[in-house]
Amino acid sequence: MITITILLFISFQVRIVPHAGTSVRNVTAAPSAAPTAATPRRDPRVVLTRDLYVAGHEQPHPELCPALGAHLRLLILVTSAPSHSIARDAVRLTWGHYAARRDVALAFVLGSPQESMRAALEAEDALYGDLVIGRSFDSYSNLTLKTLSMLEWADTYCPRVPRLLKTDDDMFINVPRLLRFVSTHENVTRTIWGKVVRKSLPKRTMKSKYYVSPLQFPGKVFPDFATGPAYLLTSDAIRPLLEAAPNEPYLRLEDVFITGVLGARLGMKRQHVAEFYNKKVAAHPCAVQRGIAIHMVQYHEQFDLWRKLLDGKTKCAS
Ligand SMILES: *[C@@H]1O[C@H](CO)[C@@H](O)[C@H](O)[C@H]1NC(C)=O
Ligand SMILES: *[C@@H]1O[C@H](CO)[C@@H](O)[C@H](O)[C@H]1NC(C)=O
Ligand SMILES: *[C@@H]1O[C@H](CO)[C@@H](O)[C@H](O)[C@H]1NC(C)=O
Repeated sequence: MITITILLFISFQVRIVPHAGTSVRNVTAAPSAAPTAATPRRDPRVVLTRDLYVAGHEQPHPELCPALGAHLRLLILVTSAPSHSIARDAVRLTWGHYAARRDVALAFVLGSPQESMRAALEAEDALYGDLVIGRSFDSYSNLTLKTLSMLEWADTYCPRVPRLLKTDDDMFINVPRLLRFVSTHENVTRTIWGKVVRKSLPKRTMKSKYYVSPLQFPGKVFPDFATGPAYLLTSDAIRPLLEAAPNEPYLRLEDVFITGVLGARLGMKRQHVAEFYNKKVAAHPCAVQRGIAIHMVQYHEQFDLWRKLLDGKTKCAS
């Protein structure tokens, strides 16, 4: 236990070097503490995030963020798996339409696909031009790496956008409502908004899908974190998160890692917003119109929610 605690104070100067041929900026990690004369060796069993993350993008599409985001109010990055082309289509055909606005940009962020998926993804991207593909292999245990790839893309290609929404391809996002939220919170800095969970305990039984070993997270209670389906960040949070990530033990719970562990380490505000439902809700038009983010939305449900969002007939108390 003592060894583990000491590990957290070890500092590393890290340089993530992108693959040759990419134009991605190098990310240099800031040391989290000054090295001491007797810097202890880290436990070789601890896997740091920098041991896994591969920086850079195969398909960066800088044009998705014109003028580095200077004229945007909101960048929406939707994490998606290579095989989820149907879910991406449903987003494009419904709430993704708001990307046509000049002040909103949207892209899908994928991990590196299996060879067998490449041709289909190339065809999809030739048609829509909205797939950003990272270099870490796409898999469930690599979700955290996908979020880092998303942050790296925002930092490299869209650094002037004021707000970033991280969301998934099975989400319905009420973009007009979100834009209203963005305007009423415009002067805020270093903040993450979403469905904030407090005092959550790491699952220590190996059978759990969410199992976390004490080497990955030694504490008893997770820091407050915003749940993964959708959270909004001020863009001044992006660079510090990217710089702090490499030195932390890798945690595959991306929301706990990014918004909790790193958010707490960096002293960022994590604010609960009730309209980020981040769960399935009974799709009454008023619930849809009042919410910002609804989770577990299948292909056909996107169209139903979209119709309910645009429904001008139902009278809802706002
Ligand atoms: C990134 O770092 C490498 C190695 O230090 C260097 O050769 C390269 O020019 C750097 N690239 C950028 C974009 O700064
Ligand atoms: C996660 O990504 C890394 C880097 O691409 C890869 O080496 C590793 O196999 C991936 N892990 C899983 C479980 O897919
Ligand atoms: C943000 O700051 C500007 C300039 O000080 C001010 O005009 C505006 O009302 C502020 N917005 C909010 C939502 O407080």
